Amino acid sequence: MLELKNVTKTFNLTGNKEDLRVALDNVSLQIESGEFVTIIGGNGSGKSTTMNILTGVIKPDKGKVLLNDVDITEMDEHQRAGYFGHVFQDPMMGTSGDMSVLENLEIAYLRGRTHSPFKWGFKSSHKKEFIKELQRFDLGLEDRLNQKVGVMSGGQRQALTLLMATIRNKPTHKMIKRDYIKFSEKKPEVARKEFDDIYLPALEEYKRQLKNLKHLPKEIRKDKKAEFYEEFDKKVRQFDLTKQILLLDEHTAALDPKTAKKVLELTDKIVKENQMTTLMITHNMKDAITYGNRLIMFHMGHIIYDVKGEEKQKLTVEDLLKKFDEADKKAEQE
Ligand SMILES: Nc1ncnc2c1ncn2[C@@H]1O[C@H](COP(=O)(O)OP(=O)(O)OP(=O)(O)O)[C@@H](O)[C@H]1O
Ligand SMILES: [Mg+2]
Repeated sequence: MLELKNVTKTFNLTGNKEDLRVALDNVSLQIESGEFVTIIGGNGSGKSTTMNILTGVIKPDKGKVLLNDVDITEMDEHQRAGYFGHVFQDPMMGTSGDMSVLENLEIAYLRGRTHSPFKWGFKSSHKKEFIKELQRFDLGLEDRLNQKVGVMSGGQRQALTLLMATIRNKPTHKMIKRDYIKFSEKKPEVARKEFDDIYLPALEEYKRQLKNLKHLPKEIRKDKKAEFYEEFDKKVRQFDLTKQILLLDEHTAALDPKTAKKVLELTDKIVKENQMTTLMITHNMKDAITYGNRLIMFHMGHIIYDVKGEEKQKLTVEDLLKKFDEADKKAEQE
């Protein structure tokens, strides 16, 4: 779970007391693992500030940031990089223009790990996997692996940034277990037992399922095997503490409508496949309703509306505009 606890952030650009800007005013927010939250709100309402506080780009004046109940408020941006993928509106921000597509991907892949990418001498060990992922965007990026990113279009760069934010190396089951015991803040023997109590029966079940497949035709066996493994794997991956949280700050705003749609649909796919906890800021009310399973509305440094599930699905653009109007009127009266 990702949590903001009573977070306040005030900016003062000029040094004059009259120029204080309250970007966030005592904001608390809890986001469950696997939630896909869309975030809307007027210009300057505190949306980007919220994301920047989560990733450690800026520190709150007051309040705390918690990740899985661990206080990360004082942890700096680089230390947190392994937990968050952050995609901005500006396609120039997420990628390094002097480096090739392949080099950018490799660095992203290894981000937040103990291994330095330089140890690999930039010989990509994951080229095949990258090509497969790039092909899904249908932007021809897979044919330009060695080209410098600086010469590419905004849409191409943004697609690459999105991929970079989501391709963290998938840890093996062994690594997941080791990290869980190390980082879960539970006593090692408790954490180990908790893991094994799920893992061992799941492994037995998977083995049993495989045995039952023996008499089936080969083609069916292959599909079934993949299906069973996915089920088993999912159970183990719930222990993966390092699963990335995806933060999207108007990441399609600078793209042409067709490319924006493509990037957005792919975002949705990637999020669902990886069950990523995701926050997506958008000014497009329709997208905010269509995507995700929770919607949050910011207004002048406060969260004024927070809906989930069915209630969210039933929303219309008119409903949201009305909420904004009401909030504006209320603010005027105060
Ligand atoms: N680095 C900064 N220095 C000074 N003021 C800032 C800074 N970042 C944000 N602010 C101010 O804090 C307030 C909230 O800004 P924020 O960027 O969070 O808004 P937003 O909801 O993302 O808006 P937009 O939709 O325009 O992107 C604004 O008044 C903004 O001017
Ligand atoms: Mg913003």
